[in-house]
Amino acid sequence: MLIKSKDLIRLKKSSKKLLNSNLSKLFSKDKNRHKNFNVTYSNITLDFSKNFIDIATKKLIQQTLINENLKNKIEKLLNGEVANNTENRRVGHFWLRKNFDNHRMGEFQKQIKVEEDRFLKFADDVRNGNIKNFKNETFTDVISVGIGGSDLGPNMVYQALMNSHDGKVNIHFISNLDQVYLDTVLKNLNPDRTLVLIISKTFTTLETLENAKYIKKWLQGNDVKKDVSSNIVAITTDPTQSEKFGIGKEKTFLFWDWIGGRYSLFSAVGISIALGYGSKFFIEMKSGAGDYDKVITKCELKDNPSFWHAVISLWNLNFMNFSSLAIIPYSSLLSKFPAFLQQTWMESNGKSVQVNGKRSKLINSPIIFGEPGTNSQHSFFQMIQQGNQTIPVDFILIRNNYGKDKLFNDQLISNALAQSMTLMLGKSSKELIKEKSRSELVNHKVMPGNRPSNIIWLEHLDAYNLGQLISFYEISIMLQGFILNINSFDQFGVELGKSNAKQIYQKINGDSKIKFDSSTEENIKFYKKTNL
Ligand code: F6P
Repeated sequence: MLIKSKDLIRLKKSSKKLLNSNLSKLFSKDKNRHKNFNVTYSNITLDFSKNFIDIATKKLIQQTLINENLKNKIEKLLNGEVANNTENRRVGHFWLRKNFDNHRMGEFQKQIKVEEDRFLKFADDVRNGNIKNFKNETFTDVISVGIGGSDLGPNMVYQALMNSHDGKVNIHFISNLDQVYLDTVLKNLNPDRTLVLIISKTFTTLETLENAKYIKKWLQGNDVKKDVSSNIVAITTDPTQSEKFGIGKEKTFLFWDWIGGRYSLFSAVGISIALGYGSKFFIEMKSGAGDYDKVITKCELKDNPSFWHAVISLWNLNFMNFSSLAIIPYSSLLSKFPAFLQQTWMESNGKSVQVNGKRSKLINSPIIFGEPGTNSQHSFFQMIQQGNQTIPVDFILIRNNYGKDKLFNDQLISNALAQSMTLMLGKSSKELIKEKSRSELVNHKVMPGNRPSNIIWLEHLDAYNLGQLISFYEISIMLQGFILNINSFDQFGVELGKSNAKQIYQKINGDSKIKFDSSTEENIKFYKKTNL
């Protein structure tokens, strides 16, 4: 662990005082509390004042967590040293945003630029009709086939920017092994005018390859001899695999093994953003992320919003014993953002051992979930406000996000701020009695309050600011991983399930002799009955 045991003891001691403190009392004790627990960098503002932390603890955290070990880990990653120790890989997604030009990046910057120029030109040529199908028709639709990091980022961004969509090229995302859903998408499309992106870092992912094979047949209209190569491109780190699928190098866009799947949006994996909106939008998004990335090198950790977000997350998890975190964007266009963040955060820090293989003594990741506000106010906020477990909330608000009628957005923002305030203040039985609530309902109506939340402000909902929000969270997750001394960049936990699925598939479809546990055996039999 990066934190010295004596410092951990000091932090634990400090947290005991705060564990039963009263958030609103912390404000009355410090008239500058909002200012003291508020930090802005570029277009991101974090208000972390409604958390169980006071000035003394903030100073102690700075003294203990901001140390040479943490700074060295950051430096090593940015300088291209191995930061993913179990796979012996560099971690280079920041280099995609071109803000760490130094001698070691030169070799990578060239590769990145060549590929980025290629896929952005391809996307613009598809949109402006310079690239057509075999009938010399323009493409009207794109199917993006991929899963996890090869889907969630592009899918989230494509929806988030929908306000700017010109209808020229519509993107459809296919990820799951669900032929019923896949058919509902295909039936509305013209195969000849549909471009298919097969996105897979390894080009071995079962879901993606099965979907790709099925879609290829759809393109061919079941004429297996029909050449549909003009309608298929691959995005991968392994062109030998995509070539086996029949996709030539000229139709393959590359990225590299030093780009993690969940961090690959700013590589060719994000090509659908350029296809759906034009290369300008992709460049804007990358520029926003790149400008926010500078927070790592341009300002001290104590002034870094992502550092304080990381600290509050670890503080809530390990000292306040709050095990989950709700991500609530007050924007319907960001409705896919919580799902995107689930992979980025829980696949990065959902680990139980440190980089040296020793078991972690700390809890490494919250359980991330979320839906937009105000919708979530009409679903699980009952539990967040009045349940008997405290669930911290990240409220994501957009300051200049209104259509024709600003009053509409005023209502949205009022609701978001009201939820955060209500979580902190609640309403006591004394107040309810004073309001003459029916005595038999008082206990049912008590709002416990004293529940923490962060408020994260974005300036606008556009490509640039979305890039900033993504970088804000990526850096918070990275800093948490460094402080916890875990490897945030591998994902061995996904492998066993995949190999077990292969064995069960063989049992369902063949005469496999493997004996499973009785539950699995009986469920296979139950399923097979319907498939005789
Ligand atoms: O979930 C495991 C995982 O490897 C993710 O890390 C990755 O984003 C996803 O599967 C898809 O992998 P690929 O891009 O290689 O198809």
